[in-house]
Amino acid sequence: MARSVVILGTQWGDEGKGKIVDLLAHEADAVVRFQGGHNAGHTLLVDDRKTVLHLIPSGILTDRARCLIGNGVVISPQALITEIEGLEKAGIEVRGKLGLSGACPVILGSHVALDQARERRRGKKAIGTTGRGIGPVYEDKASRLGIRIADLVDPARVEDKLGAVLDYHNFLLTEYYASDPVDAHRVAEDAARLGAELKPMLCDVTEELHRLRARGGAILFEGAQGSLLDIDHGTYPFVTSSNTTIGGVMTGAGVSPADIDYVLGITKAYTTRVGSGPLPTELDDEIGRRIAERGVEFGATTGRPRRCGWIDAVALRRMVQVNGITGLCVTKLDVLDGLDEVRICTAYEGVDTFPLGAEDWARVEPVYESVSGWQGDTRGITDAARLPGAARAYLERLETLVGAPVHMLSTGPEREANVMIRHPYHGD
Ligand code: GDP
Ligand code: IMO
Ligand code: MG
Repeated sequence: MARSVVILGTQWGDEGKGKIVDLLAHEADAVVRFQGGHNAGHTLLVDDRKTVLHLIPSGILTDRARCLIGNGVVISPQALITEIEGLEKAGIEVRGKLGLSGACPVILGSHVALDQARERRRGKKAIGTTGRGIGPVYEDKASRLGIRIADLVDPARVEDKLGAVLDYHNFLLTEYYASDPVDAHRVAEDAARLGAELKPMLCDVTEELHRLRARGGAILFEGAQGSLLDIDHGTYPFVTSSNTTIGGVMTGAGVSPADIDYVLGITKAYTTRVGSGPLPTELDDEIGRRIAERGVEFGATTGRPRRCGWIDAVALRRMVQVNGITGLCVTKLDVLDGLDEVRICTAYEGVDTFPLGAEDWARVEPVYESVSGWQGDTRGITDAARLPGAARAYLERLETLVGAPVHMLSTGPEREANVMIRHPYHGD
C-alpha cells in the first residue's frame, strides 16, 4: 500500500492538480509543495465555493493534513501573507497547519521588476511569464546571491544581504533595462516586517517528512506547473525556472527516491497552454474555441485565455518516462462530450528525436489518429460503468500510446466528480 504519493502535471500546467490534491488530501498527514511559487494557480471547488491557491498546499481545506512548503519553493512573503489572510477571512484555519522551510528563496519587489522589464525587452519573443519574479529569484538562488526566508527573520543578516542584492538589481534595472529602480529602504523595511510575521511558521520540513514517514504516515507531494514547463525537459526557453518533473520532489523537499511509492500524472483529456511557446496540437478553429469555452480555459493566476488543442500522446509518453508515472488521472473528460470525432497526436514528423528546444519544436508536424467521439454526458459521473463506450475506447487507446494505465478520471470541477479506478493510496 502506498504511503507517499506524488502528484505531477504532465503537460503545460493547469491539468487540474489542485482539485485532485484536495481530494486525496483527506488520506494524507502532510501535503507538500516542493517547487515553483505563486506563479501557480490551483482551483478547488467544494460545496459551490471556489478557492484558488497559489502558494499554500491544496490540502488546506481538510482538517487532517499538515501543509508544508519545502525548500524548493520560491516565496513572495507578501503574496503568502495575503493568501493566508484571504483564507482566514473565509473561515479557514491556516497558521496552525502551515509550515515552511527557512531555505526557501525570497522573491523581492526587484525580482518582479526584473521579470517584467525582461519580458518587455524580449518584445515579440516574450516567454509570457506570470510576471511574479520567478525567473530572477531562481537565478539569484543559482548564483548564490539570493536571500532565504531564514535570513528575513534576522534583522542584521537581512540588512547586510539585501544591500548587495538590491545594489545589483538596481544596477540592472536602471543601466541595462532603462527602468526605474526599487526603493532599497522600503524593501528592507517590508522584509523585516514580513519576516517577523512568517517566523512562527518556520520549521524543518525535511525532518518532519522523515519523522512522518518513519511512523507510517501518508504524504502527498503537490507539483506546480507541468512537466513540459520543466527547465530541463520542457519546451526551452518557453518554460518556467524550476524542475517541475520528479527530481524536483527530492531536491525541493529533502526526501529520497525510496520515500516515493506512487507517482500520479495528471493530464487533461486534451491540451492547453497559457503564455507563448510551442504547442504542436494547437487548434485555431471552431473545435479549439468550443473546448476553451466548455473547459472555461482562462488562467487561474493571470486570467489570460489558455490556448487549446488535441491531446499529444508523443509528449505525454515522454513525460510518463521522465517521471516514472505509476498511474494517470485524466481530467476534464466532460469537456470533450458531444464531439463527433476526437483526435490523438501519435507521432511527430519533421524531427527524428524528441525535440530539445524551441527551434526543434517549431519543425514538429503532428500526425493524428482519429477516434470516435461520444454523445453521452460524462459530466459528474463517478461510476466507470456509466462511461460511454467511445470514451472508454479513447482512454484505452491513450493508455497504450503513452505507456501508463489510467487510474483516475475527473468529470467536473467539483471535489466529488471523479471516477476512481485504482486508488493511489489504497490500490483498489
Ligand atoms: P491546476 O493548476 O493543475 O491545479 O489547474 P487549474 O486549477 O489552474 O485549472 C483547472 C481548471 O479546470 C479549474 O478551473 C478547475 O476547477 C477545472 N477542472 C478541474 N477538473 C475538471 C474536470 O474534470 N472537468 C471540468 N469541466 N473542469 C475541471
Ligand atoms: P499551475 O501550477 C500554467 C507558465 C507561464 C509562462 C511560463 C513561465 O497552475 O499549473 P513563470 O512566471 O513561471 O516564469 O512563467 O510558465 N506558467 C504556467 N502555466 N500553469 C501554471 O501553474 C504556470 N506557472 C507558470 O504562463 O508560459
Ligand atoms: Mg493552474
